[in-house]
Amino acid sequence: MKISPSLLSADFSRLYDEAASVEGLVDRFHWDVMDGHFVPNLTFGPPVVNALRSRLRIPFDIHLMIDDPLVYAPQFDVHPDDSIIIHIESRSDATETLRAIADRGARCGITLRPGTSLETVSPYLDLVSMLLVMSVEPGFGGQAFLPDAVPRIRALKELIGDRTIDIAVDGGINPETIGSVAGAGADIAVAGSAIFRAENRENAIRKLREAAA
Ligand code: DX5
Ligand code: ZN
Repeated sequence: MKISPSLLSADFSRLYDEAASVEGLVDRFHWDVMDGHFVPNLTFGPPVVNALRSRLRIPFDIHLMIDDPLVYAPQFDVHPDDSIIIHIESRSDATETLRAIADRGARCGITLRPGTSLETVSPYLDLVSMLLVMSVEPGFGGQAFLPDAVPRIRALKELIGDRTIDIAVDGGINPETIGSVAGAGADIAVAGSAIFRAENRENAIRKLREAAA
């Protein structure tokens, strides 16, 4: 299973150093972009993520918790292995936004809130390379894992069939919860507080990998 640290729980005054402190130990970086409208929290946007993109090497997953991803997705400087992930509940037309992301040269992802029906993503399965299952209500780090994410991962795998789509899971991932999502078939685990709030990040990442194996 791939580990993708969410910088939402890092020290924002030292974002590059925080990312660099774990870059050699993880597989991808997860950036939580929030606009204060789609979710009641405001973080960072294209200028900050682009500045960090130019200094880090591993792929980025850019999780857009914003009302209008069609406006902002094309403003990210992406590498070919990076993903831009939109919420199916956002206001932008999903097909148009996914096309704009592909035109920009990134991989397309869709995510959905814990209460949103999985069928809402069905029409877009041939356009995406990642589906992100939210295992907390989006907006804040450090929340408790919602166990319903486990059957949702299994159901999404059925829906995907033989398409090549990674399933990622985001929210409340720690050594106690990662085993259940690995068992359900998730490919990527996003973890914020379990990594950046740990006393020893290297140990924390090793514990996540051991618990997922
Ligand atoms: C929540 C974000 C998550 C969050 C995960 O809105 O999408 O990526 O940072 O944080 P933890 O791992 O602390 O639940
Ligand atoms: Zn996220």
